[in-house]
Amino acid sequence: MCGIFGIVGCVGKLGKIMLDGITKLEYRGYDSVGMLGIKEEHHDLRKDVGNVDTVNKKVKFEEIEGWMGIVQTRWATNGGVEKRNAHPHFNKEKTIFAVHNGIIENFEEIKSNLTTLGYEFLSSTDTEIIPHYFDHKIKNGKTVKEAIIDFMDDIEGTFAILLVVKGDDHVYALKRDSPLALGIGDGMNLLGSDIYAFNTITNKSIFFEDNEFAVIGATYHQFFDSKGNEIEKPIKEISLDQEEKSKEEYPHYMLKEILEQPKVARRLIESFDTIQKDNFDEFIKLIKEKKKIAFLSCGTSYHASLMGVSVLKTLGISARSVVASEWETFIDVDEDTFVIAISQSGETMDVVKPLKNAKKKGATIGCLVNVPYSTIQRLSDVSINILAGPEIAVASTKAFTNMNIALFQIAKLLGYKIDIDLIPDKITKTLDLRNKCKDVAKELYKKNDIYVLGKHFSYPIAREIALKFKEVDYIHAEGMMAGELKHGTLALIEENVPVISLIYDNNAEMLSSTQEVRARGAKIYEIGNKGKVDFLVPECNMADFAVYSTLLGHLISYEVGVLKGTEIDQCRNLAKSVTVL
Ligand code: M6R
Repeated sequence: MCGIFGIVGCVGKLGKIMLDGITKLEYRGYDSVGMLGIKEEHHDLRKDVGNVDTVNKKVKFEEIEGWMGIVQTRWATNGGVEKRNAHPHFNKEKTIFAVHNGIIENFEEIKSNLTTLGYEFLSSTDTEIIPHYFDHKIKNGKTVKEAIIDFMDDIEGTFAILLVVKGDDHVYALKRDSPLALGIGDGMNLLGSDIYAFNTITNKSIFFEDNEFAVIGATYHQFFDSKGNEIEKPIKEISLDQEEKSKEEYPHYMLKEILEQPKVARRLIESFDTIQKDNFDEFIKLIKEKKKIAFLSCGTSYHASLMGVSVLKTLGISARSVVASEWETFIDVDEDTFVIAISQSGETMDVVKPLKNAKKKGATIGCLVNVPYSTIQRLSDVSINILAGPEIAVASTKAFTNMNIALFQIAKLLGYKIDIDLIPDKITKTLDLRNKCKDVAKELYKKNDIYVLGKHFSYPIAREIALKFKEVDYIHAEGMMAGELKHGTLALIEENVPVISLIYDNNAEMLSSTQEVRARGAKIYEIGNKGKVDFLVPECNMADFAVYSTLLGHLISYEVGVLKGTEIDQCRNLAKSVTVL
């Protein structure tokens, strides 16, 4: 994962601009941060372990001066969370520095060759081979550009790299699989893992494609393919939702993002017959035309995919979904396949990889994404923007709701009966149950295990709620098909084990599964739309029941996190956007 950011041609507050940029990329990892500023022969390098705020308090990034600079926020892959493993990495003379996002798969082999040549390594990362590799090439008479061409050939793996060499007024930028964009400013150019990193400075951008590199000066840029042939790239004018990214009065982004759901749901619904009408029509045409439909996604977005499969199934349309990391093990694609990728970030590598392969095989690609201009959106033939606005908390909440609402609209256009316009107000009504969620959280926060049972459309929701208990609260949780309980998991149910049961319309099988766990002493929390349940949601059908029950599950997990004092917005060991395989 990791976020990288760079500037060339800065005449003022280099440290401040880089700090703003890297803060916006922190969703990509927060294990350590490092920043470098360079002006002629002088450099200033500061790094440490922790998230941006913690490290900044210690090392004062804002004080860093320079004409150009690079910075990275890290999510550890090769090499533990230690200061020596924080980027930027450098050569012995501290004249070549690099930040990297991705994984260099053959780094052991390259490291061993360089070690034989006398190079010494200070870290246990794969990235550290980069400055030494360039050092060796340059000392052997190659220009940086020639060394990059060799590097693109020699290196296996994924990378977005920013490389600077003392005495050279350029930032060199290389990309394979990991995302990278150039922002063209006024007398200053910027580079970032995404365009949010610089969109307050410029709206002109060029997206790097795989196996391209660029030489970036203060007022010009040159792009090349991996063989060094110059290529022309179009400049895109980007228009991004400038929605407030701050927490405002909320203690956590997760809470803010749960509570703003009526607003963002309404915004999405308003787009159905206006700005996104053509995209929805194109989706419907492809669903009708194509013989095979396959959803592709992971984590929370996978739960939305399961919802997509179930809702299409009620219309007699058969679709499949398998989590992205194993998708290619189970799903076969050809020209007759419509692949629908669902992703909040639009950058998840587990999704991007099979998507590229599906494209090569001639499949048509559609997507539901939250981040515009993201890799997945750019790979797609048709895309729907779920318009949830910036989602900062690692645990996805509002994006999931809007993914489901967009899927309901697709189903509605295909004949499914649902009153989508009423959903935002019913979300507001469901939020009235927040105090009850707080009460339940008081009973749950000391538990080691929680089970969540669902059926039909609420099965994906059971999984989604369980995922939140794991990531936000560090509590083991299982979200299950209620009917599967008696085939094994029931053995784990004993006195006072908490079980959350999602019961739509007093479904007989859900009621009997709930009885089975109650009979074994479980403490039951029922979420339903009818009768005497712990959480009674507004009147709804089976599809929007999923929205309200999710909301309650998310709220409970949030309140448990508050009581446990977990790192709610930056869950342990995780990152918002998972850009490694
Ligand atoms: O950005 P994406 O929707 O592709 O991300 C997929 C998962 O990594 C993501 O949903 C993850 O499971 C979240 N942390 C869930 O809250």
